[in-house]
Formats: sequence, C-alpha cells, structure tokens
Amino acid sequence: MGVKGIILAGGKATRLYPVTKAVCKQLLPVYDKPLVYYPLSVLLLAGIKDILIITLPEVKEQFKNLLDDGKQLGISIYYEEQKVPAGIGEAFIIGEDFIGKERVCLILGDNIFYGHGLPEQLNIAMKYKEGAQIFAYYVSNPHRYGVLGFDEKGRVVSIEEKPQIPRSKWVVTGLYFYDNDVISIAKSIKPSLRNELEISDINRVYLERGKLKVSFLGRGYAWLDIGTPEALIEASMFIKTIEDRQGLKVGCIEEIVYRLGYITKEQLLKLTQGMGTPYFEYLKQIAQG
Ligand code: DAU
Repeated sequence: MGVKGIILAGGKATRLYPVTKAVCKQLLPVYDKPLVYYPLSVLLLAGIKDILIITLPEVKEQFKNLLDDGKQLGISIYYEEQKVPAGIGEAFIIGEDFIGKERVCLILGDNIFYGHGLPEQLNIAMKYKEGAQIFAYYVSNPHRYGVLGFDEKGRVVSIEEKPQIPRSKWVVTGLYFYDNDVISIAKSIKPSLRNELEISDINRVYLERGKLKVSFLGRGYAWLDIGTPEALIEASMFIKTIEDRQGLKVGCIEEIVYRLGYITKEQLLKLTQGMGTPYFEYLKQIAQG
C-alpha cells in the first residue's frame, strides 16, 4: 500500500487582498518560484508520486498550466475543486476516490518547510501503517494555530484550534500523514463555529483513539506559512538568502525528481529548453553534473 499526496490550495486568502483578489495565493512567487512548489517539493521528498491538488474552480486551469499532469516530472498530478473553503478536513472528502484504500499525506499549499533532516522525518512518517502523524513547531504566536497541550510527563493530551489562551507554544504545522480511516473521520465530524471541517477535530479523534504521533520539529527547522504580505516577503527573503549563500535551490521540484531518478538528464534538459532565467540556468547546471 502506498501513500497518496494532497496539496490543499484553495481558500480566498483575504488577508493578502488586494494582491489575491484576482490571483491565487499559492501561485504567487516566493522569491524565484511559485509558492506551491515548496509544499510539492515536500511531498516529492517523501517519495510520493501520486498527487492531488485541490483548488478553487476558477484557478484550476492555471495550476494545470503550471504543473500539467506531472508526467514531465515523472509523477502523476490530478486536480479537484473546492468550491468554497469549507475547511481543511474537506480535503479527504473531495479526495476520497483519489485516496482509495491507501494512506494519505496532506500538505497545505501555503506551507514552507526547510531544514536538515526533513527527508528522514518524512521517511519515518511514510513507514507508519496505522494512525496519524503530525509535525509540531514552536512559535511565538500560537493563538493563530492548532495548539498542543501536554501533561506533566510531556505527553500530548489536547489540540485546540486557535485558542484565546494557548496551553503551549507548540503548534500543529500544515503537514499531516493519515491512515485510510481519515476519510470516515472527516465525514463524521461536524463543522465548527466558523463553519469549517477543522483539521484539529480530525487530529483530536486520532488523539482520543491513542493513534496520534507527534514529531517535534526543533529550532533547526524553518516552518513558514504565507498568510500576510509580511509573511510573503519574509519567506522570499529567507529563500533568497539561503539560495544565494549556497548556490543551491530550495523547493526546486525539477531538481528533486531528477535526483530521485524519476526523470533522465535528457528529460531535465528538455524542461529547460528555451528558458533563460537563473532558475532554468541552475537546472541546466544540475543536468551537466
Ligand atoms: O498552517 C497551519 C495551521 O493551518 C494549523 O496550525 C491549524 O490547525 C489549521 O487549522 C490551519 O490554520 P489556518 O488558520 O492557517 O488555516 P487557513 O484557514 O488559513 O487555511 C490554511 C490554508 O489552507 C490556506 O492557505 C487556504 C487553504 N484552505 C483552507 C481552508 C479552510 C483551503 O484550501 N480550503 C479551506 O477550506
């Protein structure tokens, strides 16, 4: 049994208006590539090859223009629509047929993960056959997120969505692995007061069943979510700083699939044909070893 991947890239992104009034947030540039490349690269690093992208109906074609059916990357990309942002949990209902009987990894289309050891963490999560695996991160503003509470032994005992008084500064990031039960759980939960199927309610069901594993991403990781103009420019500067210093790219999907052996050198070079930007010049260099 494999693991299917879902990128949830819907939502109205009103906190970025007017920028996102006519343009989809997850297609905005974060420095030198579209935002959606970053979560897509996480799924690729996990070894996931079947990916569903969920978008608002009006931008589905734009995503297709960007990523097509994935064959050029040696993977398969499918598309579904979410007409209104009825909650992150709805991804498993929209994606039910796509998931089939397999396990699933969901990543939010505006989340960026960066850090040494991430592929290993993903590998571990890929191997769990049962239950849910989430990733926690320590932040200064926990009230904006799903917040973990702990008992005196340090065990996770609660998950609260955007609490006024957070029980800790450890919050749940937008990267989740689930067994196939997630579909029936998503169907069983009720919409919250803000009328959304909350991912935290799904995670709480796993917690109550004793089937929730939490990995703590330490301070050596960067986890960014792009909700505001500040976050957008900060992420761009962060990526630019690292890429300039190392001469290596972050979230470069073509490089990842080439290194994973999904595409040949010739296929990689074909993707760069007629393209003159530094992004594609970088890929040409990668192909030339
Ligand atoms: O980023 C991590 C956080 O994501 C978690 O800590 C929270 O538990 C989780 O609820 C979520 O909180 P946010 O407030 O960030 O969720 P937001 O409504 O901003 O949605 C996150 C992304 O998912 C956003 O870019 C749009 C997309 N989305 C969201 C909803 C509710 C959809 O595509 N469809 C939706 O229905």
